[in-house]
Amino acid sequence: MARDNMIVSLDIGSRKVAVIAGEVGRDGQIQVIGFGAVESAGIRKGNVIDIENTVRAIEASIEKAEQMSGREIDGGYVGITGLTVSSLNNRGVVAVSSSDQEIMPEDVERVLQAARVIALPHDRRIVHVIPRQYLVDGNENILDPIGMIGSRLEVETHIVTIVNAALQNIIKCCERAGFHPWELVLNGYASGEAVLYPAEKELGVVVVDMGGGTTDIALFEQGTLWYTAVLPIGGDYITSDLAVGLRTPLTQAEIIKKEHGGTLPALTSDSEFVDVPSVGGRDTFRVSKKMIASIIEPRVQEIINLVKNKLDSSGYPGLLPGGIVLTGGSALTHGIAELAVDLLEKPVRVGYPEGIGGLADVVHSPEYATGVGLLLYGARRQQVKEEHEDSLSMKAMFSKVKEWLQDLF
Ligand SMILES: Nc1ncnc2c1ncn2[C@@H]1O[C@H](COP(=O)(O)OP(=O)(O)OP(=O)(O)O)[C@@H](O)[C@H]1O
Ligand SMILES: [Mg+2]
Repeated sequence: MARDNMIVSLDIGSRKVAVIAGEVGRDGQIQVIGFGAVESAGIRKGNVIDIENTVRAIEASIEKAEQMSGREIDGGYVGITGLTVSSLNNRGVVAVSSSDQEIMPEDVERVLQAARVIALPHDRRIVHVIPRQYLVDGNENILDPIGMIGSRLEVETHIVTIVNAALQNIIKCCERAGFHPWELVLNGYASGEAVLYPAEKELGVVVVDMGGGTTDIALFEQGTLWYTAVLPIGGDYITSDLAVGLRTPLTQAEIIKKEHGGTLPALTSDSEFVDVPSVGGRDTFRVSKKMIASIIEPRVQEIINLVKNKLDSSGYPGLLPGGIVLTGGSALTHGIAELAVDLLEKPVRVGYPEGIGGLADVVHSPEYATGVGLLLYGARRQQVKEEHEDSLSMKAMFSKVKEWLQDLF
């Protein structure tokens, strides 16, 4: 495996910056060997708003992960999110080039290039071009056309773009913290890699990563991305409403939300009370957990309704038998799945990152779905690259053998 088997992810979230280091075994399995997370600073709703603070937070989380792993970290996969990210679908068409009409990897590369040709505003850059399906002579639903016979190859793609300035700011922060970004990956896409089962992705499923400042939506079908969206709202909105409602500082509201918060069906008891410090810090007063839930629930409802609106307007024609998988820190809200079932009328579960070994328990929380997903994404990318390199070197070897044989006879 390239770069000494180590693979690293960097999730620059609105709430926390997290670095996860893993080692990829011969079987492709990732063993987590290092982890570092610090409270984020300088990021709002997925955007860098303060370079210095962001750099410092990245450096601090790298240092922690280096200490735990005993390895030097100098780069890896980086997640992106925020309102500067947007997505669209586009088609590409090419004629199959070989005389026997067998589709070669070069044809697939060409058709993907053709799909990239979109009228992109000059201030945007493409982050992903993800094939949703290929069509060979009009036959749909082909996932891997290489080796098939046909004359016309088409591809339907999902394209993710980002405002160039936002991208440059992320890259600048990473580079200044000594972290070279190998590839930038959409957060929702990465989270899906970590919390969804292959069968769900095949059938149709949506991952909703509710973080602090953003909510990332990614719809998968036939094992690949069908639709993505980012909402500029997350758990911080719930916290600030709680702070106003309880007249307590934001830091206290955050603690109360995490320790005692939830939706109403989860916290129906009127007899449990919590001590809440006042804004001035002089007095505390008692409020019932039910009262806290009555502030939290409408905000959670609002976010889920925004997710529903996005899904309704996505143009997706299927029924989503895989349902909805909630992840990200705000998915830890008590009773959120039950509330989402009612609002979305689909099966809902909370997704924890899976598919890794080693020190997996230190990142076994919905908060680290993106970070773990970036590792899984990266490992898969490296494997594909290696297979490609192997097949190129096999090709080179065969042509050498052919030359020798021609020389001999
Ligand atoms: N137990 C809990 N109950 C309710 N909310 C929680 C709990 N634990 C964490 N959260 C909330 O999760 C949010 C942070 O989630 P996460 O770490 O996924 O965000 P992030 O990745 O830093 O931000 P973003 O993805 O929006 O840029 C915060 O709003 C926090 O209050
Ligand atoms: Mg996040």
